[in-house]
Amino acid sequence: MKLSKWTLLLVAVVVTAVLLPVAAKSQGNAAPAGNVNSGKELYLKYGCYACHGYTAQTGNGAHLVSTKLNQQGFTNYIRNPRTNGMPTYTSKVVPDQQAADLFAYIKTFKEPPAAKDIPLLNQILNEK
Ligand code: HEC
Repeated sequence: MKLSKWTLLLVAVVVTAVLLPVAAKSQGNAAPAGNVNSGKELYLKYGCYACHGYTAQTGNGAHLVSTKLNQQGFTNYIRNPRTNGMPTYTSKVVPDQQAADLFAYIKTFKEPPAAKDIPLLNQILNEK
């Protein structure tokens, strides 16, 4: 039997109708996208700056700007930090969306240059 192009079209439409909701659902389960402005507010509100610095480059805690954690790792970490120095932020206090916002905000900062790449510092060090 030879399929007419109309039959093929009908099959394509049915397959799309079945698969689209599946695709939409799996998207819904993905980690939420972060909002930088909200992340900035939360970074101040939850006091992250107190231990990690206003630009995530300083402080007594880890230098967040150089974190190797991805968004999911970041969320997991703040839920269950490995040390006492870092407070626990449960999903009741910081929901996944807020964690995503915080991560997005932290990612807006640039790593500071290495000491060897700062001309004035080199000049001072090389003065005799
Ligand atoms: C009371 C001080 C303090 C506050 C407040 C604080 N942290 Fe921390 N945080 C730490 C310390 C100390 C570490 C390092 C722990 C270690 O490496 O063992 C750390 C580590 C981290 C790490 C792990 C970084 C890495 O790459 O391993 C993340 C992520 C983090 N903090 C996020 C946050 C966020 C987000 C907030 C605000 C919601 C916050 N912290 C508030 C002290 C703090």
